[in-house]
Amino acid sequence: MATIVVVGAQWGDEGKGRVTDFFAEKADMVVRYQGGNNAGHTVEVDQKRYKLHLLPSGIIHKDKISVIGNGVVVDPEALLEEIEYIQKEGLTVDSLRISERAHVIMPYHKVLDAISEENLEENEIGTTKKGIGPCYMDKAERSGIRIADLIDEKAFREKAKKAIRAKNEILVKLYGKEPLDEEEIIQKYTKYGEILKPYVVASTSLIYHAVKDGQNVLFEGAQGTLLDIDFGTYPYVTSSHPIAGGVCVGTGVGPTLIDNVVGVVKAYTTRVGKGPFVTEQDNEIGDTIRIKGHEFGTTTGRPRRCGWLDGVILKYAVMVNGLTYLAVNHLDTLSEFETVKICTGYLLNGKSIYDLPANLEEIEKVEPIYEEMPGWDLESLRKAKTYEELPENAKKYLEKIEEITGIPVCLISFGPERHQAIYRTEIF
Ligand code: IMP
Repeated sequence: MATIVVVGAQWGDEGKGRVTDFFAEKADMVVRYQGGNNAGHTVEVDQKRYKLHLLPSGIIHKDKISVIGNGVVVDPEALLEEIEYIQKEGLTVDSLRISERAHVIMPYHKVLDAISEENLEENEIGTTKKGIGPCYMDKAERSGIRIADLIDEKAFREKAKKAIRAKNEILVKLYGKEPLDEEEIIQKYTKYGEILKPYVVASTSLIYHAVKDGQNVLFEGAQGTLLDIDFGTYPYVTSSHPIAGGVCVGTGVGPTLIDNVVGVVKAYTTRVGKGPFVTEQDNEIGDTIRIKGHEFGTTTGRPRRCGWLDGVILKYAVMVNGLTYLAVNHLDTLSEFETVKICTGYLLNGKSIYDLPANLEEIEKVEPIYEEMPGWDLESLRKAKTYEELPENAKKYLEKIEEITGIPVCLISFGPERHQAIYRTEIF
């Protein structure tokens, strides 16, 4: 048996769906532990592309149990749309399980997310406006509605009535907006609860027994380390814990049951939304990466900001996640550059630093220290079937990543197809 956590080591969109799907082949269970439908995972199987937001990537394989853990925030409307999409693709969701402890994203969360962004004006976070932050706020405030409430008609009516009334006060009195229709929401969401009820389980016990029974369990992170509410570039972060520690609180699985943590990185760096980005290339280089790497958001369609690989961030990700391996994606996107750059440290006020400062003003001020390396060509990259067959310069680039981070690269991918990847170390 083995348990693997797959986490994003940058600002999300590292291609975790692809890596998860790779490991999912040998997994018995795939578990989401945080975030919600702000995530966008693209998985390509048999030349067919699936876009997932809330459903765990395991859903594409009918023999895997796919769990939405307690740390996830669930928008029932979005979930039902996604279920419908999966069914239209000829797949089933019989293997889906939803934690009774997960919190529900209500319509007022989405409205408040949009208003909060509007009010921040030029300081907006650039959220996905899916209601993620406001839902986690209610969870922390202890006024949230959980899946266990949603599927209990009487409890839901009581809790929803109280919550909608409280939010309407804020909407009308504070923001001068129209109130939401209490009865309409209650009726609509009661229906959602009825449809989702068959999938609802005590997920902690389900996962614990799977681990104890020797099954392979894969924990699938959404977003990335630098978007973690504690360890990311606060306040330009999401409201959950994408880091590996998030698995423990987001599923109820204790830290002693986790065997390996794989950090997923792109061969370069991207981020969506606002916030500091030291290696950003707001120029032709960034444009080339964006076009070649199709760097447009799966959830919002926004163009992603692109730049060189930042080794300081990677070392930070190794530390805060306890990474044991790296999976490097998009090596193909970086091909055809005559030379590529990798940031090995920062210069702050003329001094070299190798840690990510907590202070955003300091991050804004730092200058990247780059090492320039020769590039590689796409044709020979795509021909490689083994690590040894990779172009020499691509191997040197990967070795540099290993040298900076101090951990091995277990998986390298250079295209969306399953065969366009090299798996160096068996983990499951
Ligand atoms: P929220 O998660 O919608 O509250 O957005 C907070 C920040 O996280 C914004 O900068 C978003 O662009 C970013 N974000 C949320 N989900 C993702 C994701 O899946 N990939 C990349 N960035 C994300």
